[in-house]
Amino acid sequence: MDITRRQLGTLVGAALLAPCLPSSSRPASAAVAWRLMWAPEAASAGLGAFETLEDDRADSHPAGQPHIFTEGNNFRFNMHTVDRDTSTDRQRQEVTGTRNPGGYLQWLNGETWRVTYSMFIPASLKATTTFTHISQTKMPGTGTDPITVTSLRRVNGVQTIEHKIFQSDILVGRTNLEPLQNKWIDAEYEIRIGDGGAGSVRWVLRDGATTLVDATRSGDTFLGDRVRPKWGIYRSLGDTSGSLQNCYLLLTNMRAYKQVAATATRLEAENATISQGVVESNHVGFSGSGFVNTDNVAGAYVEWRFEHAAGPATLTLRYANGTTADRPVNITVNGTVVASGLSLPATGAWTTWASRSIGADLGAGANTVRVTAAGAGGCPNLDYLEVLA
Ligand code: GCU
Ligand code: CA
Repeated sequence: MDITRRQLGTLVGAALLAPCLPSSSRPASAAVAWRLMWAPEAASAGLGAFETLEDDRADSHPAGQPHIFTEGNNFRFNMHTVDRDTSTDRQRQEVTGTRNPGGYLQWLNGETWRVTYSMFIPASLKATTTFTHISQTKMPGTGTDPITVTSLRRVNGVQTIEHKIFQSDILVGRTNLEPLQNKWIDAEYEIRIGDGGAGSVRWVLRDGATTLVDATRSGDTFLGDRVRPKWGIYRSLGDTSGSLQNCYLLLTNMRAYKQVAATATRLEAENATISQGVVESNHVGFSGSGFVNTDNVAGAYVEWRFEHAAGPATLTLRYANGTTADRPVNITVNGTVVASGLSLPATGAWTTWASRSIGADLGAGANTVRVTAAGAGGCPNLDYLEVLA
């Protein structure tokens, strides 16, 4: 099996991250968005994607160096049974932090961060009776406990993968490891950084379209200074199950998002590019100076162009459909279909306006959103597109 290249289609990108939609019962000010802050491609960013490297920091196994490197578009961590950390009862090959060309990211108290990535755990990387961590969050510096850990642990003889909040030993989730070995699986990790009950963690593990764990627990997620993630293999030599072998871990598609207050930008249809349609103002209730009445033909469209930051967004279309028939539309974002045959049902009158929202992933800089009539009825009358992110 070719494991040096990630299969397309199992991507855990932002498209799978449902942005928190503002429900109509909630004030708009409570809406949050996820801002993409870090998206290193191993092939181009290399190990500069991380703040620091702990590659055989005790220099225990020069012949095996480097233990951490990029391979195709994957980050690879090799562990040999002879490798020793500075504390010789354990082994460590880890990277820490999230670094962009402009510097490393600081995850601070009160903030909420989300990380997504895909990982390949070979059968040789086994769960153990003592700790094997494959990801941690920690406060920088030495001498403090982890904040959270993803670990491969033997529970009653069964290999499992689990996530814990380390203080108070709070188990967030756990599932059997063996069905997940030798394949790419997808992890999502969200941390609300706070002392005591102000902190929480969500941990999601997916095998393709199957969600194995999606659990949230509150607990102490702030020790001091800031929170820094780590990935790699950090394990105790105290295992009594005979599970320590030469092994490795692969990671790819790493992304970090910071939760921010959402900003809504309203883009009037009358200012957009119109193909087969006209601007009118004869039905009240619209925003701005009018709305677009497209010709009643399939293929008529309105296209909005705007500058935006990259990341997931909620797109809301305001429309009126005074007929009794649905007027479905296709929506493309930067040329890619994100909604096909999206239903825009009757609103009761041309003066009764309704909204329909979808989630989509925006690129950095110029973006286009095109709403095209999917049926012979044309589009409904279109008032505006709102971009919430
Ligand atoms: C009516 C209505 C228009 C609308 C059109 C349609 O003519 O006044 O605003 O666009 O129906 O069916 O599309
Ligand atoms: Ca029309």
